Amino acid sequence: MQFVGRRVVTDAPERAGKVLTQMAELSTPWSRAMRLSAPILNAPMGGVAGGRLASAVSRAGGLGMIGVGSAGSVELIEQEVAYPLGLGLPFGIGILDWALAREPRLLDEAIAASPALISVSFGDAWPWAGRVRDAGIVAAAQISDVETARRAADAGIDVLVARGAEGGGHGEPLVGTLPLLDGVLNVTSIPVLAAGGISSSRGLAAVLAAGASGAWLGTAFAACPESLASDAARTALLQAMDTDTVTTRVFDIALGYPWPTRYPERVLRNEFWERWAGREDLLSADSDALSQFVEARGQGDLGFAHVDAGQGVGGLTELRTASEVVERMCAGAVDLLGIWQSLGAGKGSRE
Ligand SMILES: Cc1cc2nc3c(=O)[nH]c(=O)nc-3n(C[C@H](O)[C@H](O)[C@H](O)COP(=O)(O)O)c2cc1C
Repeated sequence: MQFVGRRVVTDAPERAGKVLTQMAELSTPWSRAMRLSAPILNAPMGGVAGGRLASAVSRAGGLGMIGVGSAGSVELIEQEVAYPLGLGLPFGIGILDWALAREPRLLDEAIAASPALISVSFGDAWPWAGRVRDAGIVAAAQISDVETARRAADAGIDVLVARGAEGGGHGEPLVGTLPLLDGVLNVTSIPVLAAGGISSSRGLAAVLAAGASGAWLGTAFAACPESLASDAARTALLQAMDTDTVTTRVFDIALGYPWPTRYPERVLRNEFWERWAGREDLLSADSDALSQFVEARGQGDLGFAHVDAGQGVGGLTELRTASEVVERMCAGAVDLLGIWQSLGAGKGSRE
């Protein structure tokens, strides 16, 4: 922005045009079919990705998603979809497989909201995919290995989310994001989104260059002001180093959530984890420790309460809005991929 005399001359329209051009350069057949300007989605993070974050990401040109996590309910879907519904932009809703088994109305409510995409994560069968597709909604599922990707595609999933072991929150920490993406792209012809540890334009450029149809980002959006994370959690994300995360079941045990044991959770390590990691059986039997946990967590004490985060957390250092995250990642990825092309390395070097 410049000041000419008393008149403010803004470069906003020019900048907006440049941003849209950069996003268009990164678009993929899948992102275009989904009516997205940027091949970026926010992961449906329970307790963190509410309607406000989803709306901000959709407004920025990506696909904003609402997370219906361990404590999700029909009422929560009703309340949170009110944000993106009025925008006329595509948005998505993500549910957990075990939560859906307990409360089948979650899927009814999600379908009734007419999102562009519904994901049901962390299951081993996808019987819900037919209903979602019949409603004209794209069915997405996170997978953590090539064999499961094959089965999910056969079960009628429209788009796979290859979720690598680096990822934040729950997931099967089996294979790293790049080898997983590579392996899944080798065995399927349906679109594949990459997830896990992507928090920079380098990460975005890498997965798009490898053939991903888009990037599904959790931690990078959890740190945005539009997320439902507490200010203390956001500060912890911005201060954390790449080596500060661990995968654990300690917090699911403390909270009494029935997560299948194969899906531990990647979190920022804290004092409660230091005390109980490797002693999970003792924790579940220690009623004093459990009630102390519930009380301290209720007060937002991060020595007890956990913060989900992937290994890309070390790259997050500044508070950025969702639109800044989308714009900066796209602009940086365009630069990186442009350099690669201008060096002529793009031709003939891909296997
Ligand atoms: C705070 C947080 C909460 C999450 N909650 C959910 C969830 O409710 N449902 C889901 O499908 N995935 C959830 N995930 C996992 C994401 O879908 C995704 O796999 C992960 O965020 C990707 O890794 P990244 O965080 O390194 O970007 C969560 C992730 C985070 C960081």
